Amino acid sequence: SIRRVGLIERYMDRLPFAAGDPVISLNEGSTPLILAPRLSERVGAEVHLKYEGLNPTGSFKDRGMTAAVSAAVREGAEAVICASTGNTAASLAAYASRAGIRGVVLVPDGKIAAGKLAQALMHGAQVVALQGNFDEALRLVRQISEVHPIALVNSVNDFRLEGQKTAAFEILEDLDGKLDALCIPVGNAGNITAYWKGFREMLGEGSPDLPRMLGFQAHGANPLVRGEMVPEPETVASAIRIGNPARWEQAMGAMTSSGGLVADCTDEEILDAYRFLAREEGVFCEPASATSVAGLLKHGAGDAQRVVCVLTGHGLKDPQTALDESPPVIPCAPELRALEKILVG
Ligand code: F0G
Repeated sequence: SIRRVGLIERYMDRLPFAAGDPVISLNEGSTPLILAPRLSERVGAEVHLKYEGLNPTGSFKDRGMTAAVSAAVREGAEAVICASTGNTAASLAAYASRAGIRGVVLVPDGKIAAGKLAQALMHGAQVVALQGNFDEALRLVRQISEVHPIALVNSVNDFRLEGQKTAAFEILEDLDGKLDALCIPVGNAGNITAYWKGFREMLGEGSPDLPRMLGFQAHGANPLVRGEMVPEPETVASAIRIGNPARWEQAMGAMTSSGGLVADCTDEEILDAYRFLAREEGVFCEPASATSVAGLLKHGAGDAQRVVCVLTGHGLKDPQTALDESPPVIPCAPELRALEKILVG
């Protein structure tokens, strides 16, 4: 069947769910893997893009959210909460509305992209703008979920990783199990942990076919590269503006044990990759997502012949950065001559 089903239905035998469990789904997952010919030429390897922006709310977070919200509903939760740089908030809001439960999101005030804020509000979540950064928001939601009956669905929740590992399954299916390296942006470090889990579950622990995990951070928010917390992270890639990732050890474990690496890119390099993908490959992602490609262009992938870059979120999430990074529109009077002058001089 070509009917696209949600990932709990698609991968139930590999997930902590059983037939008859409540499933809160928007038919997430099954996103396309797109060959990138121009990028492949520049890198000297076969490079594919895993376009997670085509999930229901426009980011990979939906994979984790269908699992976390379904599990929360199974446990009788009436409310869910998260800290977020925007995408988790948008996804939580959508899945909470679908489940008919209360959604609460804590976001750093003024530091999340417009599309994400619009989504969270539109789906009816309570949006709390914290006068602080993501790391402070995460600390607060962890505390409040310990003393109030409200389920925490950040990626410290293991169901999130269970859902997100399915992206690794899909890539292996599309490439017949043959992949040398995965490039992925790293913020709170849940997603890289989830992919590594997915690859190991599908290929087997210690398999020689396991891909190298190449994690990339923004230079101004690079705790894993520095090996220490960044107290005031700053980057144009607002989704990964995180100074103290919750899955720190697991992410480092994934990169080390796969023979991969963690490295960083400047905002300028991230924006170059962001424009390159849109203009040369026809694929529009948000700035944080372009970090996987910026990292590949800057640091390479060793002798890898086949590489996948994860594009974690859709470009429409952050219209302001797109406008800031583009030339101005061309004004034109409603006359043929005026249009000709613009087009042919
Ligand atoms: N790319 C995008 C577009 C993201 O939104 C995030 C994380 C990441 C990459 C990094 O993934 O945190 O698992 O290492 N966004 C979270 C949020 C923090 O709140 O939406 P990670």
